This record gives sequence, C-alpha cells and structure tokens, in this order.
Amino acid sequence: MQQTVLSATLRGVDALAVEVEVDLGTGLPSVTIVGLAEAAVRESRLRVQAAIAATGLVFPVARITVNLAPAHVKKDGTGFDLPIALAILAAHGALPAAALAEVLVLGELSLAGDVRPVRGAIAAAEAARAARRRTVLVAPENAPEAALVQDVEVRAVRTLGDAVAYLGAGQHERAPVVSEGAVAQPRANEPDLRDVKGQAFARRALEVAAAGGHNLLFYGGPGAGKTMLARRLPGILPGLSHGEALEVTRVHSVAGLNIGGGLVAHRPFRAPHHSTTPPGLVGGGNPLRPGEVSLAHHGVLFLDELPEFARATLEVLREPLEGGEVVLSRATGTLRYPARCLLVASMNPCPCGRHGSARCRCLAGDVRRYQGRVSGPLLDRIDLHVAVPPVDLAALDDEAAGEPSDAVALRVARARERQRSRGAPASRLAAAALEETARPDAEGRKLLLRAVDKLGLSARGYDRVRRVARTIADLAGVERVAAVHVAEALQYRATVEGAHPPGHDAARQPPHPTAL
Ligand SMILES: Nc1ncnc2c1ncn2[C@@H]1O[C@H](COP(=O)(O)OP(=O)(O)OP(=O)(O)O)[C@@H](O)[C@H]1O
Ligand SMILES: [Mg+2]
Ligand SMILES: [Zn+2]
Repeated sequence: MQQTVLSATLRGVDALAVEVEVDLGTGLPSVTIVGLAEAAVRESRLRVQAAIAATGLVFPVARITVNLAPAHVKKDGTGFDLPIALAILAAHGALPAAALAEVLVLGELSLAGDVRPVRGAIAAAEAARAARRRTVLVAPENAPEAALVQDVEVRAVRTLGDAVAYLGAGQHERAPVVSEGAVAQPRANEPDLRDVKGQAFARRALEVAAAGGHNLLFYGGPGAGKTMLARRLPGILPGLSHGEALEVTRVHSVAGLNIGGGLVAHRPFRAPHHSTTPPGLVGGGNPLRPGEVSLAHHGVLFLDELPEFARATLEVLREPLEGGEVVLSRATGTLRYPARCLLVASMNPCPCGRHGSARCRCLAGDVRRYQGRVSGPLLDRIDLHVAVPPVDLAALDDEAAGEPSDAVALRVARARERQRSRGAPASRLAAAALEETARPDAEGRKLLLRAVDKLGLSARGYDRVRRVARTIADLAGVERVAAVHVAEALQYRATVEGAHPPGHDAARQPPHPTAL
C-alpha cells in the first residue's frame, strides 16, 4: 500500500513543497527514509514510531519506505514527523486517502505524540497556497503565523491523535481553525528621543539617516551617548507596510524566532555582540539559518564598538550592505536571504576612548592599530560619520527634555515620501537618477567643487555627500539641492578633534564648511 502526504522544506526564506510517499512492503519490519534526508529527518522514524504507539494506534509491521520527493532537494528540519506519521497510518488503512489530498502538513512529534512547532510556518503556508491545498495542519504555536497567508485554512493540531481524529473521523473540533493572523503589538517601551538631552548635531544626523536610509557611524568617547542615540533610530523610522512586515516575519520565522508569534509589525533592531562570527552575521551553519543582517531586514543593524569586531567578520558585511541581500553558495545551490537594513555603528577614537583629551594615555601606535581594525571599504559604505562629543554636565542637569521621537518621525516620513516618488531612498539611488535629481544648484556645485579640492574628497566621498545633501533638501521640503544642503552634508564627515576614522577620505583635515 502506498500513500502520499504533502509537506514542505525550507530553501532560504521560501518553502518548497515536498511529497512524503510511504510504501508498506513485505519483508523484515523496518523503516527507511530516502530522498536526500539530513540527520534531523532521518531521526524522524524513531519519533514517529514512539508517537504512534503513544497515541494508541497500530504501527504497521512491514518494510516501510519513506521517500521524500523531489529527491534532488536536500530536506532538513523536524517538520516531516507529522506528515510521515500520517502517511504511514494512511498506507496502513487507518486514515482515508481522500482527506490527505486536501492538506499540507508540517510539525515535529514528541515521543508522547504532541505536535511541536517548527521554523518557517508562514513560508510553508505560502507553499500550500501555491500547491492549491485548501488546508494547512500545524502545531498551535505555528498557527497564528501560518494564518497570515490568505486563501488557506489553518488548523491547529495539538497532538497526533487530534490530527488523526480530524482527518479520519472529521472531528473538526480537534483541529480548530485559526483564522486571524495575530499581529504583534508595537514594541512596548521603545526608547524615545526625548530622553536625549543636548546633542543637537547627533540627533540631526539620526534624522538624516532615517530619512534617506543612510548608514551612520557615531564616533566619540565613552558615555557620550552613542549607544543611547542608536537605539532610538527604529522609533523615528516610518512604520512597516504590510508587505514589509510579511517579509520580516518570514525571515524571523525561518530563524526560529517567531514561534508562537504572528505578524512582526515593528522595525527590527538587532545589536549583535562583537564576538559574533561571520555566519552569525550573514547567515550559515547547518541547518542553514539567516544571520543578524537578515534579521535586521527593513530595520536597524547596530554594531556597537565597531573595532572590537573581528575584521573578517566585518568584511562579510560589505556585499549585503551593497546589494540588500545575502547570497550563500552551497553544494546544493545558491540561497538568498533578504538583508535590506540600516547600519548604525559606534566606535571610540582610541582604546581608552579619551583620545584628544589630556587624560588619554594611549600610544600613537595603539591608536592607529585600534582605528585600523575597521576597514576603509566598510567605512566607505557609511554615508554619515558623526562625532559625538560628551554632553556637558550642565546640559544634562539643565536642559529640558529633547524633542520626542514622534515629532522627528513625522519629518522623516515626509522626506521619505518625497524620496519614494524617485523610486528609491537617496542612499540607494542609481547613479543616473542621482545625477538627474541630486544635482546641486550653481552655488551648491561651487561649494562641492571647493570641497573636492580642499578636502581631497574621493569620487566615492563626492557621491556620498551628494546623496546626503539630497536627503537634507528633502527634509527641508525642497526639490533643488542648494549650497546650504551641501554645506550640512559636508559636516557629516567630521570626527573628534585630532582623530579620524581610518580610510576616511578627509583624514588630512577636519572639514568644516565655514572654513571652505
Ligand atoms: N545626551 C544625553 N542625554 C541624557 N543622558 C545621556 C546623554 N548622553 C549620555 N547619557 C547617559 O549616559 C549613559 C551612557 O551613554 P551611552 O551608553 O549611550 O554612551 P556611549 O557613547 O555608548 O559610551 P561607550 O563608548 O562607553 O559605549 C546613558 O545611558 C545615559 O544615561
Ligand atoms: Mg556604547
Ligand atoms: Zn586613549
């Protein structure tokens, strides 16, 4: 007897439909799983056997072959347990075949027969829709997420027994429909800019970064408020569109971070520790999982204490920062994870952080080595380099609360609206579009040319200043980029006195537009 149950396996952030075929043959009782099954799938037979017994059902005494098709695709994960169990029971005649033709099934089994959640339920539900299956059977923890997909009915099964009762005897109450994709509440106590006193310059840079999607580096001594500022960036970005939220949910689900959750509706903020490895940052491992840069998709990736990261780790970031996606080559093919995020980094100017003040005791060589840990090419992909001087105690004591994030977010949203009409934020405008829409007026061009001359702006630096100036004009609600916008843009290349980030093309001279 043969039976087939449809399930799915992950490929990147997509799920691929997999037919679980079970054949009961004569011969010595055994269970063999074929079809490029990875270790986790091969272990499935033990769990399935135990779960069927624990449910009080008969495990067929036969030579059982489980084939996972298409055979050339590697199958991983524990989600095949439930479909394998159901296919075995159906092949044995314990379940009507007709019921199986309508469903896609996904779930791990415990030895006691409970259905456990797996990664990638939303992607599997998409695969079900593509395969024109009416119903998806998943663990209750996976149901709110799977229900985000339109046109498929999601049924939550707590146990193997519930799945059998639903499919066999039509006991629908054993597998309740979950119709509402749950929407996660907006993050509670999202840190607010009103807590930041003074620091007008750094706050403004944060606003420019949010408006144009510009990567940002905060540069300054300990306690200056760099970390505090960076954490407030997601709060001034516009809310996620539904489509973006679905993309974010997919990545988080594939990473196993959305078990029990529904739609991820807020912009992610990821702050990996500096001990993170390259696979931790861009994805990898076995089974393959997305890395931090993908978990930050449509949100913010914060690299605190940038020079503490291993150089090799930072190097792998270059491609995703450029292309907005991670491409991983594996023997079985190429996988892609989305990685369109805003990078915010922070660094001290020297090991002790007090460089430029009399209290710094670091040797010149140490300072150079420290700064040299961050590669020039990475810094080149950061449009805004912002010095954050320590806020003076008087300001901390006196100054009234800063402008709240809500007010800043409003200006950011308006600027983004203007940028959307050009097809892309200024940070990602194609060269031709940049030339066409960000060409400064005559005064602005004069200032820019003088900067090229005096500061030794590289071609890349020139390009960056123009992008940033475009965003500043958009924040002002102005179509033509003018000298005042260029002048402000030139300031976001400045650094703490006497010290400059490595690879910085203005390293020879602290640029200040008034000096030009
Ligand atoms: N402008 C400010 N307004 C209010 N509080 C501030 C400000 N700047 C710093 N603080 C206070 O100082 C603390 C330290 O700031 P933060 O951790 O952001 O500094 P940092 O620049 O990241 O330092 P480090 O280089 O040591 O990581 C904050 O938690 C906050 O309480
Ligand atoms: Mg910090
Ligand atoms: Zn020092």
